[in-house]
Amino acid sequence: LTSERYGVERLPFAHISDSNLTFFEHLLPGRVITDAEELKPFNVDWLKSVRGCSTVLLKPRTTMEVSQILKYCNEKNLAVNPQGGNTGLVGGSVPVFDEIILSTALMNQIISFDNVSGILICQAGCILENLNQYLEPMDFVMPLDLGAKGSCHIGGNVATNAGGLRLLRYGSLRGTVLGLEVVLADGSILNCLASLRKDNTGYDLKQLFIGSEGTLGIVTAVSILCPRKPHAVNLAFLGCPGFCQVLRTFTVCKGMLGEILSAYEFMDNECMKLVERHLKLTNPVAESPFYVLIETSGSNSTHDEEKLSHFLEHVMGSDLVVDGTLASEDKKIKALWALRERITEALTCDGVVYKYDISLPVEKLYDLVTDMRIRLSTAAKNVVGYGHLGDGNLHLNVTAESYSHSLLDAIEPYVYEWILQYHGSISAEHGLGFKKKHYIHYSKPKEAVLLMQQFKIMLDPKGILNPYKTLPSKAV
Ligand code: FAD
Ligand code: MLT
Ligand code: ZN
Repeated sequence: LTSERYGVERLPFAHISDSNLTFFEHLLPGRVITDAEELKPFNVDWLKSVRGCSTVLLKPRTTMEVSQILKYCNEKNLAVNPQGGNTGLVGGSVPVFDEIILSTALMNQIISFDNVSGILICQAGCILENLNQYLEPMDFVMPLDLGAKGSCHIGGNVATNAGGLRLLRYGSLRGTVLGLEVVLADGSILNCLASLRKDNTGYDLKQLFIGSEGTLGIVTAVSILCPRKPHAVNLAFLGCPGFCQVLRTFTVCKGMLGEILSAYEFMDNECMKLVERHLKLTNPVAESPFYVLIETSGSNSTHDEEKLSHFLEHVMGSDLVVDGTLASEDKKIKALWALRERITEALTCDGVVYKYDISLPVEKLYDLVTDMRIRLSTAAKNVVGYGHLGDGNLHLNVTAESYSHSLLDAIEPYVYEWILQYHGSISAEHGLGFKKKHYIHYSKPKEAVLLMQQFKIMLDPKGILNPYKTLPSKAV
């Protein structure tokens, strides 16, 4: 079977048989979905850009069930697509052909929380926002936050090493995840669910699974360090006359806000127009070429407000900022965050989206957007830039009325060559999934890719876990 759309050939995995279904139904009574209508949303990704044709979805509740599923699939040579909230943006979360979908949706139990250390242990299928709601009354928060919080699962976050809006303050999951429980392709359970801040006994195996996008094992439980909920949160939404001023404001901001700075996000005016047009949101400041969203979080509101007002006085009195607004109450904070968080949604309303998630030296970050805008001219509907400026992470997005090969050819590999030239990353936080796996060599040397392929063969010799994803099948 060849997928014409993708130019990928189905690997020789077994096809689902009645006896396979009988086995699964016996193991997971009432939790084996085969109805075509019910399967539809699990076969298509969030962007509606890739579609598989799986005929079976399994919903285990326990690690032991995941282990039995994988042991069986490995023996029978059946391919498996792990799926969390299906909010991934690189086509990794849906099958390419008829892989069995293993959903973590019912693995949503909190196992323990220690309110002295702040260590939370939970199953992989817990929704990020639910974990935050659970922690809030105990005065803690999750160390990550992203626009997809209402749907994404903590296991999916770990599997993609999601970055998001709080990375500037709390660092990446590579630091906050203290332990993982993972089921390997042959069904064996790897219990590295430690709750220790320090543990240098041998190699740190959990790191191999963080960001492995379901290709090396299925994450079944996570131990994560949660910070105390900050009591004073303030937001400043500012308009800047140019990208140079966005960067200079960041430098001033780091100097003047220091330890209370918790987010520094940016968006261009094209993004603002999209959220206004498609989502009917209102620009709270004077129209400007760029906007920045600055969040401070701390424990003393008087101290934080004083610092923030000194900073604002400074930037408003200079040529760095044209206009700005402040928020300290919840409703206004949420409304300002929505302008930035909902750009992804506004883009999907604008047409077909070509999405690029890039790390570059900050001073080069916006040159790529300007360059693409000139290069694509009227072939694109919109070329926009936004992202986690504080982390050097740009989201370059191109929209068009409909999908076109010639537009794609004008973007790729040009965009990847551009990134290579400045030693950037072609995937800062979304992963490679199905869409980007062939471009890995733009960001990693061939020796590194070879070692990754060797790890894959060692941990999953039959290649049943999320095939066609993340790594190129042949040497690069
Ligand atoms: P899925 O989409 O279901 O899966 C993603 C990948 O992980 C797939 O390869 C899948 O096979 C694998 N996987 C899922 N669960 C497991 C598991 N338990 N074990 C092993 N493998 C598994 N990302 C960012 O980094 N930063 C952002 O700010 C951000 N914002 C977003 C905003 C929106 C509106 C959307 C739609 C997406 C955003 N993302 C962002 C993308 C991001 O990757 C995901 O939202 C999230 O981390 C994926 O979690 P999920 O549970 O939906 O995983
Ligand atoms: C974001 O930062 O908004 C997310 O990574 C999603 C996106 O890139 O659109
Ligand atoms: Zn992002």
